[in-house]
Amino acid sequence: MTTASSPRPGPDLADITGIDEAAVAASPRIHAVYVYEAPVRLWHWVNAMAIAVLCVTGYFIGAPLPSMPGEASDHYLMGYIRFTHFAAGYVLAIGLLGRAYWGLVGNHHARELFTLPVLRAAYWKEVFAMAAWYLFLRPRPSQYVGHNPMSRLAMFVGYLMLTLFMIATGFALYGEGTLEGSWAHTLFTSWVIPLFGGNSQTVHTWHHLGMWAMVCFVIMHIYAAIREDIMGRQSMVSTMISGYRTFKE
Ligand code: HEM
Ligand code: HEM
Repeated sequence: MTTASSPRPGPDLADITGIDEAAVAASPRIHAVYVYEAPVRLWHWVNAMAIAVLCVTGYFIGAPLPSMPGEASDHYLMGYIRFTHFAAGYVLAIGLLGRAYWGLVGNHHARELFTLPVLRAAYWKEVFAMAAWYLFLRPRPSQYVGHNPMSRLAMFVGYLMLTLFMIATGFALYGEGTLEGSWAHTLFTSWVIPLFGGNSQTVHTWHHLGMWAMVCFVIMHIYAAIREDIMGRQSMVSTMISGYRTFKE
């Protein structure tokens, strides 16, 4: 029985209607799920920095700065730029190998980057649902614990495949400098350059175009991450820092 002085007139009514918001508010709820393990997070930010360095130095390799005046031996500007590019290239390649290893031993979210369930209708349904959400055609997106299906597609094709292409063409060009007998020449130059008709300049052009494709991926990726953080139903950027996905509502 509720009385006029009762601080909480709800419980009796709750028995009748089944609605009890106070009980819901007081109940324990899972607010966060641990998604990205430390090696994945560390790799993400190191990889992002390596790619930023590769794009800037690569741009200058393709469009060199004007010659410096004075003694050539006093300046090594393009040399430093090329050296930085190659060093970042190693960081990118070794980092991806480490990330692939973590895909094998880490949690199931660590494998999302390397697999794409293209034969599952449920997957494509979510891809289109997410596309409609990004195009402002759907008022409310689903909640995803790992990557959303559309970002998974973008990361597999726009990042993973592209990065493998950049590593193969990059080390093929690098192996031209380290000459026959070097590991880069044996593993990459020997088959990548012939694949492009034996013309090293063609490989340069495709490697260069790959940079612009990567720039497009990064712009869309950062836009999507920040947009989802604000408009989506779960955390994004903080998840790549802390590892925890928190859910709104
Ligand atoms: C060169 C720059 C970047 C590249 C190449 C890049 C690439 C990637 C890749 C490959 C993943 C998948 C991670 C995995 O499954 O292992 C990822 C996830 C993610 N990245 Fe980046 N990233 C870059 C910069 C950034 C920046 C600047 C931000 C923040 C604004 C960011 C936010 C995120 C977030 C939030 C995720 C997780 C997405 C999700 O859970 O669906 N990234 N990124
Ligand atoms: C996201 C990754 C990468 C980007 C965006 C990138 C970008 C570029 C660009 C724009 C160029 C100039 C091409 C031209 O116009 O001739 C270049 C050249 C080059 N890159 Fe990369 N690159 C990447 C990865 C790599 C990797 C992994 C290596 C391996 C060491 C590498 C090695 C080279 C070499 C050897 C050259 C030619 C240098 C020269 O001719 O002086 N790159 N890169």
